[in-house]
Amino acid sequence: MSMNEKIFYIKTFGCQMNERDSEIMAQSLSRYGYIEGMDMKEADLVILNTCSIRAKAEQKVLSLLGYLRKTKLSRPTMKICVAGCVAQQEGVRLIERMPHVDLVIGTQNIYNLGPLLENLDNEGSRVITTLWDDYDIPSFLPSLPSNTRSESGAQTTSPFQYSKFVTIMQGCNNYCTYCVVPYTRGREISRNVKDILEEVQILVKAGVKEVTLLGQNVNSYGKTNAVTAAGDPYTFSDLLRDVSNVDGLARLRFTTSNPKDLTDALMRSFRDVKKLCPQFHLPVQSGSDRILKAMNRKYTVGQYLEKVKKLHEYLPGIALTTDVIVGFPGESDEDFQGTMNLLEEVRFHGSFSFKYSDRPGTRASQLVGKVDEEIKSERLALFQKRQDEISLLRNSEYIGSVKSVMIEECNDNVAKGRTDTNHIVHFSDCAGCMPGDMVKVEIVHAGQHSLKGKIDEIS
Ligand code: 5AD
Ligand code: SF4
Repeated sequence: MSMNEKIFYIKTFGCQMNERDSEIMAQSLSRYGYIEGMDMKEADLVILNTCSIRAKAEQKVLSLLGYLRKTKLSRPTMKICVAGCVAQQEGVRLIERMPHVDLVIGTQNIYNLGPLLENLDNEGSRVITTLWDDYDIPSFLPSLPSNTRSESGAQTTSPFQYSKFVTIMQGCNNYCTYCVVPYTRGREISRNVKDILEEVQILVKAGVKEVTLLGQNVNSYGKTNAVTAAGDPYTFSDLLRDVSNVDGLARLRFTTSNPKDLTDALMRSFRDVKKLCPQFHLPVQSGSDRILKAMNRKYTVGQYLEKVKKLHEYLPGIALTTDVIVGFPGESDEDFQGTMNLLEEVRFHGSFSFKYSDRPGTRASQLVGKVDEEIKSERLALFQKRQDEISLLRNSEYIGSVKSVMIEECNDNVAKGRTDTNHIVHFSDCAGCMPGDMVKVEIVHAGQHSLKGKIDEIS
């Protein structure tokens, strides 16, 4: 490390969108004399890339900031930057409450982190949270390990990742009544096709095998702004086809989707685009039409089930996962029973389930009929218990089958990888396999959250 290199440490909360944003910030910093460190307490710059989707996520950030206040007392040169959704939402209020925070940077301002920090040294602004309704999402070429080496060539802290995220859009126009995202991430903007394809090509050339296309609602890609140079109509299914044509790419995934925008063309992509993995995260949120209406989801349970049926027709064996909120304002026992019934009907491979929490500025936060915390906890426990049972049954269906697995880690002859259905598989005797390798594994045991296998062959 050269004398003037500074160490930064990023902690990421929340979604995959944030994970990708953290990489972008890391990259911006690497051009300004920073290298990534492993120890928050030793860093010259600590960045918290925050999430405010639920009250609990926000509380985690605030308590870590409290802890950092003490660290900073003993190391006053340490700079603290808050980025992401809490930064966007709280803006100047954050600095007022937490004067030890040096910089608050909004969700669309991360691309300039390096210059903004330099500015800070010259008495520049400490709060930058501008949200534009329309802008070209800057092309930040993927941060591969070689980009983040220090001047002296010291090894970066992050190992090469064979699976990478590519942001294809930002923001959201849906205004689900419980959701803070339209306020923290702004209006929906799709990135140019050309930039996306270029990014995927560079990743693949560097050795990446799998990409996940990211957006708050990828199904409406290309709807709100032109994405081709000529301004021609272009949809998310077109993008899937074009990305999958990148030579050398093995697997393609995407997240996340709103069922209301799930077109037949997109469902057919699961049958027709061979590299598209047979796995689909399709958040349903509730199994009650009344609650779905109050959530402004714009589909009914019947329409959701119809789409699930079609997906199974196009691709038998597709692994479906979902998000569910329990205890939305006004949710009765009967409404909740609707969610349980839906779980029985679809038998999701897995789900993320949450207790509803009020978020600032959302329409649901103004609703009457808030559900007691205790009832929310009871409903969540019931839902999760049944989901765990179903996940185990679903996973058991794989026992005896041979799956193609991409290795993520391999230590002491024990490997961990993922199937195309996004199931984690552990196995031993991996015969010298390396991260990034595709191997054939016979599934011999199923747990609720992962599978165990026996190596079949290295392809
Ligand atoms: N309360 C609880 N869960 C929420 N989610 C979004 N907003 C809220 C909220 N206010 C959940 C939804 C969404 C997931 C990312 O977080 O299920 O799909
Ligand atoms: Fe959290 Fe949503 Fe922001 Fe992602 S976009 S960090 S999930 S609030």
